[in-house]
Amino acid sequence: MNLCVIGTGHVGLVVGTCLAEIGHKVVCQDVNERKIGILKEGEIPIYEPYLKNLVRENAKEGRLNFTIDTGVAITQSDVIFICVGTSPLENGETDLSAVEKVSRQIAKFATTYKLVVEKSTVPVQTGEQIKRTLDKYNTHSHMEFDVASNPEFLREGSAIQDFLHPDRIVVGVENSRAEKILREIYLPITNQSFDCPIHINCPRSQTVPLLVCDIKSAELIKHASNSFLATKISFINAVADICERAGADVTKVADGMGLDPRIGRSFLNAGIGFGGFCFPKDLQAFVKFAQKLGCEFSLLKEVEKINENRIDVILNKIKQELWVIKQKTIGILGLSFKPNTDDIRFAPSVKIIHELQKEGANIKAYDPKAMDKVKEVIPDMTYCNGPYEVATDSDALVIVTEYEEFKSLDFLKIKSLMRHPLIIDGRNLCDKEKLIQFGFKYYGIGR
Ligand code: UGA
Repeated sequence: MNLCVIGTGHVGLVVGTCLAEIGHKVVCQDVNERKIGILKEGEIPIYEPYLKNLVRENAKEGRLNFTIDTGVAITQSDVIFICVGTSPLENGETDLSAVEKVSRQIAKFATTYKLVVEKSTVPVQTGEQIKRTLDKYNTHSHMEFDVASNPEFLREGSAIQDFLHPDRIVVGVENSRAEKILREIYLPITNQSFDCPIHINCPRSQTVPLLVCDIKSAELIKHASNSFLATKISFINAVADICERAGADVTKVADGMGLDPRIGRSFLNAGIGFGGFCFPKDLQAFVKFAQKLGCEFSLLKEVEKINENRIDVILNKIKQELWVIKQKTIGILGLSFKPNTDDIRFAPSVKIIHELQKEGANIKAYDPKAMDKVKEVIPDMTYCNGPYEVATDSDALVIVTEYEEFKSLDFLKIKSLMRHPLIIDGRNLCDKEKLIQFGFKYYGIGR
């Protein structure tokens, strides 16, 4: 099938590339000329495991093309996936101007039937607005179209895996024509019949459920899922604070809770809280559009509040030990909002560093993926080549992101390099007993 993806950001690029990988002919469009130029040369503007190779291979096979020309992308495709950005406005609502613009462009350029699929995370009832806009600006009265919602559940750092081996595919449609097309597009995935290009964690025998529902329910599934996951995280973080005061261990509490299949262990890791471009903005948007519909979703406001307080939890632990922050050297391990991505949007690290700098600390930091991105927002700290350089002459070492490689550090060496052997383990990554045995002063979260 001929598909186009409008908006070649993190989601659009992964979606377009994976759709090509399962056999479709895809053109990815973006208004950013520089980005399209980079992609045409086989480079990718973001870090996502496996993505670069897949882009190159599919482009070489002629299944994946890139363009800045919206008209060309739209006219030559049967199905149009809208993957443009839906950033938050200052008031927390979602900025839908890019979605509206793309809808107008589709109406302008399309001369034959199109299925318009919203993939970007949008508030409920956006599908209706897209439909109205297509109707309103359609200058070719013979153009027929359907609108569908097909939310993405991709996690940064494992987006290719998540697309090719999803837990579910959600398809919100108004009629059987749109349903049939989407079923056909995803058939290689629902019956797992494609040749998987990534061989780790590749569950070959599994069939993937495809849930068909109305458009509004599909739109809500996305916000409800992200908000529920964020709620789990804030819940366990609140429990962590109680554990700390009571002398319990939150990791054990989470293990015990997680054994109940109704609860599940995932997303019960206490720590610095959630960041990234999805949970914080989706929570805010959900609260806002619920409000517009006359519903006060105060539970989610509390989830946000607990999350914001996590920064203070870390700062208080540092202060408890160092007393005065001014002129102390604090080492930060991990800057991205989670491992295996260079994304630092809403990353707790940035807030923590700003707060420490305000109080006069010297900051040294290392991240395996995100240092270039952080340099753009925090130019005035020392960027190190690795954890040992960070540790050298530091008064405290704060683990902010749970990179695997931090687990297996030579902590005796770290201790010998530090000015004071103090570890604030913001992700409960380390073996607490071992570090205490080595002579560290150790602060975890909720244990
Ligand atoms: C999230 C969802 O997991 C995806 O399903 C969704 O498609 C995506 O948002 C989106 O809306 O596009 P992502 O933001 O990439 O994906 O990252 P997650 O792996 O979900 O982690 C989010 C944050 O929660 C991270 O800061 C992570 O450190 C934190 N977290 C996660 C915890 O603090 N504790 C946990 O137990 C799990």
